[in-house]
Amino acid sequence: MNIRQIFLIIVLLLAMACNDNKTTSIKEETAIEKKIQIVAINGSPRKDGNTATLCKRFLEGAASASKDVEITLFNLYDLDFKGCTSCFACKLADSDCYGRCAMEDDLTPVLEKIATADGVAIGSPIYFGEITGELRSFLERLLFPYVTYEASRRTLAPKRFPTVCFYTMNVTEEGAKKNGYFEYFDKLEKLIERVFSKPERICAYNTYQFTDYQKYKADAFDEKDKRKHKETQFPIDCQKAFDAGKKMAKSLIIKSMLNKHSLILASMDGKIITYDDNGIKPLFNHLKNSNFQKFDVYDKITGKASALILIYGGAKQLYTNVLSKEAIPVLEKYGVNYHADTIVDYIQNIKKDDKCPMEKAVANIDEPQKGFEILQQKFN
Ligand SMILES: Cc1cc2nc3c(=O)[nH]c(=O)nc-3n(C[C@H](O)[C@H](O)[C@H](O)COP(=O)(O)O)c2cc1C
Repeated sequence: MNIRQIFLIIVLLLAMACNDNKTTSIKEETAIEKKIQIVAINGSPRKDGNTATLCKRFLEGAASASKDVEITLFNLYDLDFKGCTSCFACKLADSDCYGRCAMEDDLTPVLEKIATADGVAIGSPIYFGEITGELRSFLERLLFPYVTYEASRRTLAPKRFPTVCFYTMNVTEEGAKKNGYFEYFDKLEKLIERVFSKPERICAYNTYQFTDYQKYKADAFDEKDKRKHKETQFPIDCQKAFDAGKKMAKSLIIKSMLNKHSLILASMDGKIITYDDNGIKPLFNHLKNSNFQKFDVYDKITGKASALILIYGGAKQLYTNVLSKEAIPVLEKYGVNYHADTIVDYIQNIKKDDKCPMEKAVANIDEPQKGFEILQQKFN
């Protein structure tokens, strides 16, 4: 070995020692302190119908991700409860009930369970173009206490957990479109997004309603076509529900590791890279030799500065504990899917007495490359 080769090896070893990243796998890393709680709400009266089947497949998918996932299914029609009675206890100033539903019935333990859940799926058959009455009553009780009448319009849910909505219906996809169902779903999901997160939507169309169509007067429907759809398409819908549950659970498990790391990058093949430095340093470190294109990004705190660097590096999926409001428009403009537990007005500096200087530096910048260059200059 000549002097040049020895020098190169020393440089390589030094570079490896200076970079704070570590490649590992989910199994090696996972040390969950608290089980991940995933809940599904079946808003159909039928416990073995189309909606219930999707809810169950979703939970099976979630449970398949890890033994650290606990799943719970609630069948709303088993419970004796009413919708919101407009008592306004949840809006009462200086009250224990502020932000909490004061009604006491079978729904109380369900709402308590959801208050500590990590992810929730909500399923409903379509009745006269809408979700079922019971699910509507449930949503009034779940969402209204968290929606404030304060001028800031802040919401009070303990966590903005990920959500999935299942809708099952008689009509075909074209029928759903023609009847304006998608506009209705959009409106409903906006409400859920305001309090928790933008739901992933899974629809099952042209569902099989009866076990035996011969017994019913239902010649408006083509039973053969429905049976074919049940045998070919419904298993695909069930698989989508399973995959959604698995994906949700996996992402929650990786996100729980942010209590030990500042940045985690998870690739499709199960490998994860962790970084422990704070601020935007790990993002720059990663971009020295790679990019974010093939990774789901898990970031502890994401402000506009981090968002611009992530977009510059090709990130498409972001999970974060804390997201600043200023980061949202750029994430949306550049098509980055994001999920945040908490949304704050801005990211503070270390002393917590002003805005973070990196955030100030890109306050008026919306172009990722420009933002990256400004931040790189400031950082070096
Ligand atoms: C009261 C009632 C109203 C319904 N209204 C509609 C409707 O407006 N549009 C539609 O596509 N299907 C409608 N359906 C069919 C159900 O949405 C569909 O069969 C659904 O998949 C049933 O879900 P389940 O098996 O979970 O009970 C209706 C069913 C019932 C019982």
